[in-house]
Amino acid sequence: MQVAMIGGGMIAHDQILPSLYHLQRQCRIGAIDVCARNRETLRKLAEAPNLLNAFPGQIFTARLEPYAEVVAGLPPHQLVVVALPDDLHYDAVMCALRARQHILCVKPLVLTVAQSEEIEKESRERGLLVGIEYHKRFDDRSILARRRYQAGLFGEFKLGTACLLEKWYYRHSNFQSWFTCDASDAFTYIGCHYVDLVAFITGLKPVEVSVYGIKDKFPNGKEGWLWTDARVIWSNGACLNVQNALGFPDAGPGTNTQSLTMYCSNGEAGAWLHHSDQYRGLQYCYTRNPGGDGATTYAEPSPDYFQYLDLGGPGLVPTGYGYRSVAYITERALELQGLSLDDRRRLIARWEQDGLMATPSNSRYNEAVVEAARQSIANNGVPVKLKA
Ligand SMILES: NC(=O)c1ccc[n+]([C@@H]2O[C@H](COP(=O)([O-])OP(=O)(O)OC[C@H]3O[C@@H](n4cnc5c(N)ncnc54)[C@H](O)[C@@H]3O)[C@@H](O)[C@H]2O)c1
Repeated sequence: MQVAMIGGGMIAHDQILPSLYHLQRQCRIGAIDVCARNRETLRKLAEAPNLLNAFPGQIFTARLEPYAEVVAGLPPHQLVVVALPDDLHYDAVMCALRARQHILCVKPLVLTVAQSEEIEKESRERGLLVGIEYHKRFDDRSILARRRYQAGLFGEFKLGTACLLEKWYYRHSNFQSWFTCDASDAFTYIGCHYVDLVAFITGLKPVEVSVYGIKDKFPNGKEGWLWTDARVIWSNGACLNVQNALGFPDAGPGTNTQSLTMYCSNGEAGAWLHHSDQYRGLQYCYTRNPGGDGATTYAEPSPDYFQYLDLGGPGLVPTGYGYRSVAYITERALELQGLSLDDRRRLIARWEQDGLMATPSNSRYNEAVVEAARQSIANNGVPVKLKA
């Protein structure tokens, strides 16, 4: 199976391409094309020291033509990876589906319920996979919590609090060109992870959202909702508070700060779940700052999301839930190779039912939350009922 990735930015470099390279090294997938609008993006990706170190001798084919041409040139039922900015996902996904390709799309799939429904319809008709890469689902702790919740050990979710604050330096990056008040906000961009996780763990659905935002200025003078506090009400009446920002201090340890706490009850006893998703038990103090955005002399690295291990070479082996998530969706696309339309539909329906992998239909609440959140934040945090 060939893979064509559209977009060669941060997530492509940090997680997706190294995961694909490792799958390629294991002969699970064939040639990899990467499509971007400018030569410089592709040059930087091809020459990234991390990737050269970890995957000596492995290369992708750089494609500068419009992605529609690249996708149309593939034989049917290959894998198209969509790693573009959020608002471009819809066009790229529809284009790839019409060209009869399976899809791995980074989160969020799209920004409206209507677009997600269209994608579902198109993919069902053609028996094509659309896997949405919510990688936190592939963190072992999420899968453990889900099984125990489903076994009734926690009773029922009542109150929760989650946070994910990215470091301050994000404000100096390309974010300042697109992360403006009219286009996004901290909750829409990163809050979705914990909304998705609570739904994944509990099986409950969000029904109402209110988001209070604080505007702040980027270095270029543009304004964004850079601090947000969201209240998400669930189908059983439970309430999750989610705080997000581009504002965790650069001098703080780790690449960000993030955690989830859930208080639950079975009516007779209380239950509690807490995940520290930033501090995972490692404390390093180096002789000097190792360099790079947000790097610190005292660090608390996460061994769980994405790391490179030296297992004897050549190169390095990616490990963590970032890799497992990409591998899982890619493997599902491989499983569909050579099957009839009916068999593909049957398998995809089973995976949707299992609910480990996010698909348009089993994670549509995420689009509904984003739509409601955007309405709420523009209206000073009024509660907005979800569409789906
Ligand atoms: N935790 C997560 O799940 C996570 C983390 C980071 C990013 N993301 C998602 O990944 C996506 C990309 O984010 P990023 O941080 O990599 O952004 P980025 O700006 O670094 O990269 C986007 C890339 O898309 C390319 N691009 C834009 N328009 C194009 C076009 N018409 N044709 C081809 N290429 C085009 C750009 O050149 C750039 O290489 C977003 O949807 C974001 O929400 C998810």
